[in-house]
This record gives sequence, C-alpha cells and structure tokens, in this order.
Amino acid sequence: MERESWSGKWAFILAAAGSAVGLGNMWRFPYLAAKYGGGTFLLIYIILVFTLGVSLLLQDITLGRKTKQSAIGAFGTFGKKYRVIGVVAAAVPFLILPYYCIIGGWVAKYAVGYITVGAETLADGGVFFSSFITSPFESYFWLFLFALIVLVVVALGVKGGIEKINLVLMPALILLALGVTIYTFTIPGALDGVAYYLTPDLSKISPELLLAAIGQCFFSLSIAMCIMITYGSYVKDDENITQSVNRIAGFDLLVSLLAGFMIIPGAVAALGSAEAVSASSGPSLMFITLPTVFEHMGAAAPVIGTLFFLLALFAAVTSAISIAEACVSIVQDSLHLSRLKASLAILIYALVVGSFVNAGYNVLSGIEPLGAGSSLLDLFDFLSNSVLMPVVAIATCIFVGWIIKPKMLIAEVEKSGRFALAKPWTIMVKYIAPVLIVVVLVAYVAAQFGIISM
Ligand code: PFF
Repeated sequence: MERESWSGKWAFILAAAGSAVGLGNMWRFPYLAAKYGGGTFLLIYIILVFTLGVSLLLQDITLGRKTKQSAIGAFGTFGKKYRVIGVVAAAVPFLILPYYCIIGGWVAKYAVGYITVGAETLADGGVFFSSFITSPFESYFWLFLFALIVLVVVALGVKGGIEKINLVLMPALILLALGVTIYTFTIPGALDGVAYYLTPDLSKISPELLLAAIGQCFFSLSIAMCIMITYGSYVKDDENITQSVNRIAGFDLLVSLLAGFMIIPGAVAALGSAEAVSASSGPSLMFITLPTVFEHMGAAAPVIGTLFFLLALFAAVTSAISIAEACVSIVQDSLHLSRLKASLAILIYALVVGSFVNAGYNVLSGIEPLGAGSSLLDLFDFLSNSVLMPVVAIATCIFVGWIIKPKMLIAEVEKSGRFALAKPWTIMVKYIAPVLIVVVLVAYVAAQFGIISM
C-alpha cells in the first residue's frame, strides 16, 4: 500500500500546529506564567522553544520522514532490537487518547453550556462541574461524541480528513483568540494584568521555573508522543523541514501567548491578583475559575464564554485527531489493516478505556491510585506525561545522538535545503537535551511522591 502524504507544505504545518496547539496552551501555559512571575516565565519559555523545543521537534519529524513509518516501524527500520523503543513510545498515545477524549467532552459540554444552562450556572464555584463529571450518563455521552467526531475525521484519511479540518479550525481558532484578547484588553483594570504578564522579574528565576518551562515546552510541541514521527512520515522529501519546524513552533507559541492575554488580565481584573490564577491549575482553572472570571464581564459573559470554549474545543479536537492518528497509524502499520478498520478499532479502544477512566469519577470513584483525592485520569496523565514521555524523549535522543548518529538525520534534512544549524543541533541532541530531560523526569517523579514541591 502506498503511504499517504500531505498535499503540500502548509497542509503539514497547519496539521502539526493543530496538534501542538491544544489544552496545554489554553490551560497549562497561562497557569504556569501566572505562577512563575509572568514575563520571567515568558522569556525563558521563548528561549527554550527555539532551542530545545525545535531541536526535538525536528528530530521526531525527520525520523518519520526518513523511515516513512509510524513509531514502532520507525525505530525498527534501523534494527529489530530497536523496535522496543518504538513499543514503549507507542504506549504514550494509547495512554493519552482515552483521557484526552474525556476532557475534550468536558470542553464541548461547556461550549454549548453557555447556551443551554447559562453563564451563571457554569460560574457556580464548581458545583455544576463536579455534578457533570460525576454523572453516570451525561459525562459518557460527551466522551462518546467527542471520540466519534475525532475518529471519523481520522478515518477519512490524511488528505480527506485531517488536512481539511485543520485548514478550517486553525484559522478560526486564531480569529477567535484575537477577538477574545481584544475584548479582554478593554476590561477596566485589565492593563495591570497585561503589565504583570509582560514584565520580567528576574528574582523569580528558580530551578522550579526552569523545570516547568522545559516540561511545558516539550508537552506543548507534542514531542515524544509518536505524533510528530507519524505526521513526519507523510512529509514529502522536497519539503524544507527546518523552516516548517520553526513555523510550527512559532504558531504554538503565538497561541500560548494569546491564551495568557485572554486569561491573565481578565482574571487579575476579576479576582484581584495574578496569584489567584495560579491558585488553581488544570481542570479547575479552566472549568471553575474561568467561568467565574467571565461572569464578572456581565452582559458579555455568555458571548466571551462561548467563544473561549469554542476555541478551546477547536484546539482540543485538532490535538485529539493527532493523537488518534498516531494510534491508528501504529495499528495500520503493525497489523496491515486498512485505515477504516484501524480507525474503528481505535474508536472502540477509546470508548472502552475512556469509559473505564471516566468511571473513576463516578462508579469507580473509590479508586484513588495516586493518593487521596486522585483519580484514574490523574494516573493515566502521570504515567504518560511525567514518566513515559520523558523516558521516550531521552531514549530518542540517545538513539539518534549515539546509535544511528546525528549525521544520518542531518542528511535527511539536507535532502531539501541546507541545515545551517546542524552543529548546534547535534550538541543539543547528544548532550544537552538528554541531561535536561533526565532532570525533569527525576523532578516530576519526586514531586508526585511529595519529595519536592513543584
Ligand atoms: N501539544 C498538545 C497540547 O499542548 O495540548 C499536547 C497534546 C496532548 C497533543 C494530548 C495531543 C494530545 F492528545
């Protein structure tokens, strides 16, 4: 079977940016920026994206394009014994997909919630949110709907589904983000938040800030999730990889910056300080604090709330498509199934495992795998993001830097133009990135078990 390919450079860039721009930009980035001194975090994050981030992104994409395989086959191409790296890597998208569909369902529920239940109910301090996620039927309904939409797009193929939806949703997302940002700037008191967000305070630089910024950098660029290897495997040989990588990273950074503008000034105006934003993170920031911030906008609340959750939904759908595509292509390449059959298999997988994880909030809420108050979703998130992704990123750097050697991928990049920064890239992949990521891995695990606080 001939491998599918993107119809052009922009189709690939938009799809990869669609993967990168996700809930990580919408809720993790503003939270981290608020927590770590606004402008200080921003500055360090930008430096990291264009050094560490683009290097690892280029590594994943080039591995895919060179081998024209999804993760397991990509590593296996260089020797049967290396397949094991691919198998461990493949666990990442399989762990993430089910719970990302759950959260995608929550976002979808809120996007329509501004119309069906109203802004005031959504801003009730968490009662609505917890009754929704603990509901024995409704939470499953939104999970099923979200997963179905995602896998229908994937089943339609690279050109017929993935490319087309990104072509519509990504520009729409940018327009919505600009609209909400402009409105936020007009709120009385918002400019204090803008100043906080943009002013670097060098006294806030700390090891924790650095660790958080490194983790966010590779999570936000969808590195070590098998996604970029898969998307890279559909890139044609004459496309300039270095240029595409910079554009994808730039796009992702732009949306993170806009998310900060959408959230921090409004939150400072409504809640009195940036610290109030960082008091809640992840789901509670998005589904409890933000509706309260929007509620302070009075008559504009339903409009801004709907637009914000709609754009978050677009971000979630395009990321979920990429993670589902990583799973589907692994199944297709390993079992030689048609795209349709592989998509159906992954849909069933997402529904069954997703339902199990979702049950952690209702029928199985007695299971608290990571200590009191934790859920099955937290467990899947911890295993994939904090443990496996760093392990896979380190293994990929060692594989490329020390086993197949950087020259092999440099030659691949140079098929379509000079790779001016080949030397610094080699140093990054061989030495700097593995060391930095080992530190992140140790810190994440230590933080989870309460040995350090992050
Ligand atoms: N880059 C994505 C984000 O920032 O949200 C990371 C991601 C997570 C991609 C989960 C895909 C996914 F399913």
